[in-house]
Amino acid sequence: MVIQKLLSSLSNKNKRLFCLIGIYLVALESLLLSFSFIGIQPKSSAEIIDTHFVKLIGSIDSLENKVSENRPVAQKQFYYTLSRKNYKYIEAVVEYVSPFFAKYYINGPPLKKHDIENGNKVFEPHGFQLIESFFFTGDTSLSKEEIVYEIKLLKESIIQTRKKYKSVVPRNEQYFDMVQMELVRIISLNINGYDCAITKENIKESTYVFDGMAEILEGIKEVRMKSPSLPVFKKLISDSKKYLFLNKEYETFNRLYFIINYVKPLYSLLHKIRSELKLSNTPVNYAINFNESNLFGEAFFNRHFFSVNIADSANIKPQAELGKNLFFDPLLSGNNKRACASCHQPQFAFSDTIAKNQEYNQTGQLKRNTPSLLNVMYQKNFFYDGRSLQLEDQVSDVLHAKNEMNSMPEEVIKKLKQSDDYKHLFKKAFKGQRDTAITFYGVLKAISEFEKTLTSMNSKFDKYLNGNKNALDQNAINGYNIFSGKALCGSCHFLPLFNGLVPPVFNDNEFEVIGTLAGPDIKEVDSDSGRVLITKKNIHTFSFKTPGIRNIEATFPYMHNGAFRTIDQVIEFYNKGGGSVAKQKINHQTLPFDSLQLSPKEKDEIKSFLMSLSDNSYKNIAPKKLPQINDPVLNKRKIGGEY
Ligand code: HEC
Ligand code: HEC
Repeated sequence: MVIQKLLSSLSNKNKRLFCLIGIYLVALESLLLSFSFIGIQPKSSAEIIDTHFVKLIGSIDSLENKVSENRPVAQKQFYYTLSRKNYKYIEAVVEYVSPFFAKYYINGPPLKKHDIENGNKVFEPHGFQLIESFFFTGDTSLSKEEIVYEIKLLKESIIQTRKKYKSVVPRNEQYFDMVQMELVRIISLNINGYDCAITKENIKESTYVFDGMAEILEGIKEVRMKSPSLPVFKKLISDSKKYLFLNKEYETFNRLYFIINYVKPLYSLLHKIRSELKLSNTPVNYAINFNESNLFGEAFFNRHFFSVNIADSANIKPQAELGKNLFFDPLLSGNNKRACASCHQPQFAFSDTIAKNQEYNQTGQLKRNTPSLLNVMYQKNFFYDGRSLQLEDQVSDVLHAKNEMNSMPEEVIKKLKQSDDYKHLFKKAFKGQRDTAITFYGVLKAISEFEKTLTSMNSKFDKYLNGNKNALDQNAINGYNIFSGKALCGSCHFLPLFNGLVPPVFNDNEFEVIGTLAGPDIKEVDSDSGRVLITKKNIHTFSFKTPGIRNIEATFPYMHNGAFRTIDQVIEFYNKGGGSVAKQKINHQTLPFDSLQLSPKEKDEIKSFLMSLSDNSYKNIAPKKLPQINDPVLNKRKIGGEY
């Protein structure tokens, strides 16, 4: 009132003057205010992360109280959702600092687990994904006390992770490692239904992940002071969040659009900021090669990570060249008629179009279907039952196997030594090393180096991810979204390899019980009991390694038994809930039992997407001529074997 009176008593000119003084006063005040803030440093990443740990522990604590006090389910749901939100802010940190806790006690799939490296133990499911079902599905399989126990366990795991984090506060480059890995986690797991199986809040939760990432990186002083790209980064984070916010429906979320327009540029930008800050690479042998700026670039994977012989990296090119000759050479078999390429044929993505190939003596069948060898190196376990842990072991297994190549090392060496061409190739391949002569080790090493060259990331799908908009049609684009969304395929066949090697650490091959039938129209589970033969754990009965499904167009027939001849049959099998249609009840099926309710159009779209995964780069890789040998009869042997 006083001011109004004063104003009305002033002339217009004086009013203007008065206003100006007012503006100056406000400006002065804010200047003074900002001075008083100068003494306060923005929070560091470590402080920000710790605050989120405290919030997370607090919300889990509240959840525990609501359950203990028998509060209404809405309250439990509220605190569960809040805890998930708090978790997602620092998921990148928790997964990085405590991968073991994350997998077994915090956010692993709600299934029993057994990994040979953890001894004889079968781990019961724990953590968020187990707890989720008690608040959102009316699941009553656990008593109140048991649920409280599970919540306590979750809380304790977070408390332990916080302690661990505080004891090893990461260096700047490690924050980048964890955030880049988290981006991979988002596109390969989070938005594909790997967690939140019930609430389907995957997309919304990803916004919290983005918030957390931004806070963590902005907490790094050097990023704030020295990175010219920081504003671009902030803008991209905020655009990504906006996109997620406006498209939060799990089933209709356009995953490819999101990946290409937001996540991929963000990944490259992080690479750029790393170089702006001149951050050195962390001396850790990660599966991801952080020198590659392109999330879908050729050098995205660190090949050394997947190789046992890290120290033995000299001459690998001539070794692979030698290996290629050996791979196609039937000299390696007992009767000089069978080569690796007899079954692993390049024109069929290194498989053979037969349900089960012939045994060596041509009287019976092998036990299983021949798998493709494209991208074979990007695995931790080999064979359908995962019995082999090294590519090198595996070669030796096959050579010895009476039903496959039926060969003895001494015989192979004796034959190879009759060839000047091979002597020359071996000398070149193992020059200056202890193995300059022809040895069995050299044979195994060379073949495995050849196998490691068979990496396939050049399909239409990859071209689309790398900017060629015409590489995929709308059907295939829709197909990818159904594959990774409604049909849940992408929660087992993970982007970008589409096998069961879990990103972003890529050191854990998943085995699954999907209940593969003896045939598409037979309501009986195939009799091959799978991984249980190796681990002797019941949970692994009918369990098989999740194979890669790139190049699926060429690798028919499908599954370990080769009983499904067409992709349509495979899709229909999944659509009906896998082995749940079988007459016998299978325990521990890890594939959801329910029908996926896919429409004919959706099935067709999934198929279009699967077809876009073909890469024909290796079709004509067979050598035109095999090394000559001092034996006219053997010199007539057939490239790639006779049968
Ligand atoms: C007679 C057919 C046949 C021949 C010959 C053959 N393989 Fe195989 N290969 C198979 C079958 C069948 C499997 C799957 C067996 C299983 O999972 O139990 C397999 C599996 C593999 C695997 C594991 C792939 C994976 O993803 O787990 C590799 C690697 C491999 N073979 C390489 C070779 C090499 C190298 C040779 C030559 C030294 C060779 N194979 C010869 C049929 C054959
Ligand atoms: C629970 C995990 C899981 C889910 C979900 C899943 N798969 Fe599989 N997939 C597997 C496993 C394990 C195998 C190997 C089974 C066998 O050999 O008996 C497999 C095999 C396949 C094969 C055959 C590969 C070959 O070379 O023989 C194709 C094709 C395939 N899956 C496509 C799909 C599609 C399409 C979907 C979604 C509709 C899907 N998968 C969902 C785990 C899964």
